[in-house]
Amino acid sequence: MNLPIRPRRNRQSPAIRDLVRETELTPGHLIYPLFLQEGSENTPIASMPGCTRWSLEGLVKEAGEAHALGVPAVVLFPRIPDELKTRGAEACHADDGLVPRAIRALKSAHPTLTVITDVALDPYNSDGHDGLVADDGRILNDETVEVLCQQALCHARAGADIVSPSDMMDGRVAALRAALDGAGFQSVSIMSYTAKYASAYYGPFRGALDSAPKAGDKKTYQMDPANAREALREAALDEAEGADILMVKPAGPYLDIIAKLRAATMLPIAAYQVSGEYLMIKAGAAGGWIDETKIMNESLTGIRRAGADMILTYFAKQWAAAWR
Ligand code: PBG
Repeated sequence: MNLPIRPRRNRQSPAIRDLVRETELTPGHLIYPLFLQEGSENTPIASMPGCTRWSLEGLVKEAGEAHALGVPAVVLFPRIPDELKTRGAEACHADDGLVPRAIRALKSAHPTLTVITDVALDPYNSDGHDGLVADDGRILNDETVEVLCQQALCHARAGADIVSPSDMMDGRVAALRAALDGAGFQSVSIMSYTAKYASAYYGPFRGALDSAPKAGDKKTYQMDPANAREALREAALDEAEGADILMVKPAGPYLDIIAKLRAATMLPIAAYQVSGEYLMIKAGAAGGWIDETKIMNESLTGIRRAGADMILTYFAKQWAAAWR
């Protein structure tokens, strides 16, 4: 064949492939979600093989190991004892609660580790919803936002670097920014779950925390998986309200949303490879059907290629350990 243009020339050796590679993935791009519980036990999570609900001591050790491998940040998800769950979710802003104690322990053991907290009521709410639930079952927006502000302030007082509202209530980013600034926490960042879909991929996570809704579903606040323009609308609002980082969740089945947001904003984009995405890879590998390390790597590279600056992933430590 008389072919002057041969794309394969750029793939012909590892060295040339290194030179032309468009997407870089390093441990520095990863955020490690960690589960925690009261007491001194570290409990393996049945619905998420390879993940553990940590005691405070276990949490500090695990976060330290990930940080030593180059992972810059962790995000915390607590399992709250049933007796502390109420309809008003008051335990979410107790200064001696599990999350504030964990923040203080992490910051004192690992001062350079960035600690991110989840701002939402579901672990604390006897109804299992991210917002307060009215007697008729409606999720109350404005009342919820007030409690979220108290929760974020509690995390900031304990030393959180970034608060991350995952509740999808309207107007919460502006309210959180005003509450934080009003209390002198101008340097606490907001990583907003901007496009959080009502996804079945969260199933294993709810098993890990015992946080599934007691009645109904989350479709009046989380987004319809069929919608993309709506994500752009949420992004414009969160940006105008003062978010520092916008998040898309889940990640793998929503790469188009990541790419659209990347094109629509100058803000950094985060993507959350959620529990169901993680579990499918773990399950496929446990069955001997796929190569876990290669699929882990390819799934994370794809999320970066779509436009995510950072990825929340349960693989963070494992990937960082396998890297180079
Ligand atoms: C709830 C929250 C959820 C996740 C993170 N924060 C679950 C939900 O919305 O029901 C899911 C994370 C995952 O599946 O890995 N505020």
